[in-house]
Amino acid sequence: MSNFLTYVQEHQNRFLEELFSLIRIPSISADSTYIPEMQKAATAVQEALTKAGCTHTELCPTEGFPIVYGEKIIDATLPTVLVYGHYDVQPPDPLDLWDNDPFDPVVKKTALHPDGAIFARGACDDKGQMFMHIKALEVMEQNGGLPCNIKFMIEGEEEVGSDNLEHFVRANTEKLANDVILISDTGMLANDLPSITTGLRGMSYVEVEVTGPNRDLHSGLYGGAVANPINILTQMIASLHDENNHITIPGFYDKVAELSTSEREEMGKIPFSLDAYKKALDIAAVYGEKGYTTNERKSIRPSLDVNGIWGGYTGEGAKTVIASKAYAKISMRLVPDQRSEEITTLFTKHFTALAPEGVKVKITPHHGGEAYVMHADGMEFQAASKAYMETFGIAPLPVRDGGSIPIVALFEETLDSKTILMGFGLDSDAIHSPNEHFGVFNFLKGIETIPHFYHHFTGLFQANR
Ligand code: BES
Ligand code: MN
Ligand code: MN
Repeated sequence: MSNFLTYVQEHQNRFLEELFSLIRIPSISADSTYIPEMQKAATAVQEALTKAGCTHTELCPTEGFPIVYGEKIIDATLPTVLVYGHYDVQPPDPLDLWDNDPFDPVVKKTALHPDGAIFARGACDDKGQMFMHIKALEVMEQNGGLPCNIKFMIEGEEEVGSDNLEHFVRANTEKLANDVILISDTGMLANDLPSITTGLRGMSYVEVEVTGPNRDLHSGLYGGAVANPINILTQMIASLHDENNHITIPGFYDKVAELSTSEREEMGKIPFSLDAYKKALDIAAVYGEKGYTTNERKSIRPSLDVNGIWGGYTGEGAKTVIASKAYAKISMRLVPDQRSEEITTLFTKHFTALAPEGVKVKITPHHGGEAYVMHADGMEFQAASKAYMETFGIAPLPVRDGGSIPIVALFEETLDSKTILMGFGLDSDAIHSPNEHFGVFNFLKGIETIPHFYHHFTGLFQANR
């Protein structure tokens, strides 16, 4: 087993080059201009799987982008690990805020990544992290072989809500049968503080449209006499939080699972520097729900944020106009046991009722998904813990994350297996933002750590049957 590190060191340059080739394919799922690139990326992942050691691979067509499937089954009596990841990436814009071409990776040192970080869209979310698993397969194959069976399911629609994956999973429970699902699409605390993600938030995403007069109006001739959709929309949005930053939608908190005092105390022990946090974001103060710490606000508490807002004149100079319509995209991050559909309904009712008579409101729900929590005592957690101990020399901390991977809750429901989230990115890696990056150390450490997980999981699985 100790050969893993040596092998990774000997092949690290090639591993990086292979990742760069994958990153160079701009697989932006949200933008239809990139449909051919999505196909290319899927094929590249399939080829990489074959090269690493999968004995069977296929591109499974969906109504959207293909799902890449790969497997190597060595012995039906051994456990099966199903690796999930995504080859699609977020759009890179705004492009002018990037220091390099987002699809031409550059390695640069940063304060948190003294060994260098790969700057590119998808470097961390999720091509870099997903590719660690393909290379981990190679590492195992070249150093004694797989200790158990392995399956890969790499999708191309994670960043747009995984609608077709849900259908695929429900229709292929036999093919996807497994003993644990392994995902690297989250983060860890710091390069010397490994952690395992034990919670993800759910999501409700809506688009709202407020319509006032039937056409854009001269703001002098009509200003003050009709409801201005932009004024109204911003007032409505502002009223969604009260003075304590609680969300005002009636019923919104009804099902929120509250943490016990001791659970909150445990959470409070997670190393966190508020000063470093503020400094990294260049903000004078944090902001959020009264009565909760920053760590709690971004993980165990629900939140509501406007993701985009538009309408009226935004071009150069001044145009005196009252727009006929105003729009916003709003996301709500949910916690156990809130249900995404129910929250969307509560939002819709409340937001519609908020509107004064002079405007019409239309609400379009987008994707949703449920929150996920796992207990830090299962076999999969223990196996991962042992793996980090071997490669980092310390035990990982269980940490609840604020992001969402909506498909995780569905996996548990449909495949009846647990998920282990071994993320190697840092919160500061700027995923979804300009200058996204992923530490070279993190990439290589991931490739080295993952094979240990397979060994320990197989060992524990056999001991427990
Ligand atoms: N990998 C992220 C989710 C993530 C990142 C979770 C870091 C925890 C820590 C994933 O690709 C993502 O961006 N998910 C979306 C969900 C979605 C439905 C578009 C999100 O969280 O906004
Ligand atoms: Mn991701
Ligand atoms: Mn993402």
